Amino acid sequence: MWTCWWLWPLVAVCAADQFLDQAKRIMQTTPVIDGHNDLPWQLLLRFNNELRQKDANLTSLTGTHTNIPKLKAGFVGGQFWSAYTPCDTQNKDAVKRTLEQIDVIHRMCQMYPETFQCVTSSQGIREAFRTGKVASLIGVEGGHSIDSSLGVLRALYHLGMRYLTLTHSCNTPWADNWLVDTGDHDAQSGGLSDDFGKSVVREMNRLGIIIDLAHVSVATMKAALNQSQAPVIFSHSSAFALCKHRRNVPDDVLQLVKQTGSLVMVNFYNDYVACKREANLSQVADHLDHIKKVAGAGAVGFGGDFDGVTRLPVGLEDVSKYPNLVAELLRRQWTEAEVRGALADNLLRVFEAVEQASNHAREPEEMPIEQNYLDSSCRTSYGYSAAPRLHLQPAALLASLTALLLGLRLL
Ligand SMILES: *[C@@H]1O[C@H](CO)[C@@H](O)[C@H](O)[C@H]1NC(C)=O
Ligand SMILES: *[C@@H]1O[C@H](CO)[C@@H](O)[C@H](O)[C@H]1NC(C)=O
Ligand SMILES: *[C@@H]1O[C@H](CO)[C@@H](O)[C@H](O)[C@H]1NC(C)=O
Ligand SMILES: [Zn+2]
Repeated sequence: MWTCWWLWPLVAVCAADQFLDQAKRIMQTTPVIDGHNDLPWQLLLRFNNELRQKDANLTSLTGTHTNIPKLKAGFVGGQFWSAYTPCDTQNKDAVKRTLEQIDVIHRMCQMYPETFQCVTSSQGIREAFRTGKVASLIGVEGGHSIDSSLGVLRALYHLGMRYLTLTHSCNTPWADNWLVDTGDHDAQSGGLSDDFGKSVVREMNRLGIIIDLAHVSVATMKAALNQSQAPVIFSHSSAFALCKHRRNVPDDVLQLVKQTGSLVMVNFYNDYVACKREANLSQVADHLDHIKKVAGAGAVGFGGDFDGVTRLPVGLEDVSKYPNLVAELLRRQWTEAEVRGALADNLLRVFEAVEQASNHAREPEEMPIEQNYLDSSCRTSYGYSAAPRLHLQPAALLASLTALLLGLRLL
């Protein structure tokens, strides 16, 4: 009898394999573009960015979630590598350290040209897909990396930065971070500050830098979604409805994501997936399902946070495991088009919209941040007038106006 009871486990195994086979077939033409990977941070911690050290060889690197064989096994075809420097560098050497992390990403591409192709456009991603390389892009994680300077923002764009996370886990003088929502930090800007915060968003739109809202407060999410002329991303955040961690995206914001054609690239960190130290692949799929339900299949992506976190779900232990997650989505009856969207097409759509909204012919933003917003202990003040700026000092303005009018005997 075909339906002998002892055959059923075999049938189940065959069915599981069938979804995995289908996943791999899809990923041959649509590999995954992941929103956030902290390998560059590991290269700093482990090797002080000395890529020629023997143990730093990316084909044999051990103890990390990411190396070249694992990327190949995982069908990774695009990666936003994180140029990250911690918040304690704010007002210190944040810009220098960010430049060094950008440099180490460029050197990765240079040392392993068979594997990585550094690109800066959606077109570049598509070309890397065709040649079977990992399209390598730079995401700068944290607004503190621009040190409140539009000039630094533009310079980082020229070095290849294509997303900027508006904050990491600290406020900048112009945007609030998620720890405001837990009560651990005080709100400073009420989201984005009216003057400088909004000009950063305008300048990112003008240049064609994707606005990344992972790590920001809910008020910052809403302000940026409202201000941006182009769709935005959450490069590595999950769904708040399933795990009430403030790093995740609440449903009302998911509605705005839907309205703006934006994208949430789901974070695999156990603590954001399950709100516990343990999680599994199926729970990650639950987050993908939820975001799809609330914001549509076009709003879903992957942002594993590999090599940036210490605990990962059973079944998603490193970058070789993406096909298993895709098989799970297929098992949950996601269509092939929806799966291709989550893998790459949604990110490509957003990136293309950001590119189309950019306008390098428009005048750059020029207004500097007010000097009194900055921690002055470690900085010079060239360019800022030594005398108080009148518009910053209403009392002084009133006094000089009074003196003037008195001089004219009008008072
Ligand atoms: C890394 O190791 C492989 C295999 O041992 C070797 O062929 C390759 O040249 C090394 N790459 C670098 C950049 O050192
Ligand atoms: C931004 O918010 C204002 C005021 O609430 C609203 O009128 C406007 O439509 C919003 N714009 C976008 C793009 O969401
Ligand atoms: C994943 O974890 C959840 C919650 O602990 C559990 O209910 C579920 O059975 C697990 N799934 C698998 C496939 O292990
Ligand atoms: Zn992060």
